[in-house]
Amino acid sequence: MTHGRSKDELEHFIRKLEQQALETAEERQPIYIKAGLKNASLVLDVGCGTGEVTRDVCYHTGGMVIAIDASLELLKVAQRMLAGTHNVQLCIGDAHTLPFNENTFDMVTCNLLLMWVHDPQHVVKEMARVVKPGGKVVATLEPDFGGKIHWPPYPGVDEIFAGRSIKRRGGDPYIGRKLRMLFVNAGLETEVGLGNLRIWDCDEDKASYMKARKFYWNVLRREGLSDEEIERWEEHYLKSIEEGIEFNFFPQFYAIGIKK
Ligand SMILES: C[S@@+](CC[C@H](N)C(=O)[O-])C[C@H]1O[C@@H](n2cnc3c(N)ncnc32)[C@H](O)[C@@H]1O
Repeated sequence: MTHGRSKDELEHFIRKLEQQALETAEERQPIYIKAGLKNASLVLDVGCGTGEVTRDVCYHTGGMVIAIDASLELLKVAQRMLAGTHNVQLCIGDAHTLPFNENTFDMVTCNLLLMWVHDPQHVVKEMARVVKPGGKVVATLEPDFGGKIHWPPYPGVDEIFAGRSIKRRGGDPYIGRKLRMLFVNAGLETEVGLGNLRIWDCDEDKASYMKARKFYWNVLRREGLSDEEIERWEEHYLKSIEEGIEFNFFPQFYAIGIKK
């Protein structure tokens, strides 16, 4: 479930998840508020990973949160992360066969999960099964790399970051555009929207890249680039940032579905 990562890659992946959770907090918060997370008494967070996003979920509700993930390694990290959080319980399990009775939760949340599961339609149906009638299934952020815009171009690398590496690892880089279909087919009354409305400035892009530099190098090495090729790309990328002309955007969608 950690998608065949080596120990080193797993460490950088964990750091990337931590960073992502921080960087997307401003995008997720309005969705929690819109969905009414505050008033949910019992919440299920599916694919909790390292637990940072779960911590935000816990913070936004007065209720109890059950967090589930298929990876024992990531759950161990989550256990440390959530040690000071009192309204959470962790459990191991597969999102395709959630170990809960139907009509159990007031809200079921997930973040960056559907992109990675084997059968996203089955998972959304499972989330809809365990939520109570009138309750909500909420996918906070699911990207669509088909909408990625990056400038200035760098052939040979742009396509890797525009979905190729995710596809190679078994993920679906175009899950964003499928959210409405997945939710409607699960029988949910569905609203979809764009979570990230703000374009980052060059300094933000640089800070984000520098924090996750090793993660990106690992991705490019895995795609067969030599260190010299990566250095040349990095020089080009950082130069465009220094010049203040670099532009990067890819849409992250959310879906809120009400069980009838
Ligand atoms: C990209 S991470 C996102 C983690 C967390 N939600 C976040 O936003 O930081 C995807 C998570 O989904 C979990 N996952 C993937 N397939 C799963 C499945 N079938 N059942 C449960 N969890 C799964 C992975 O172990 C990983 O923790």
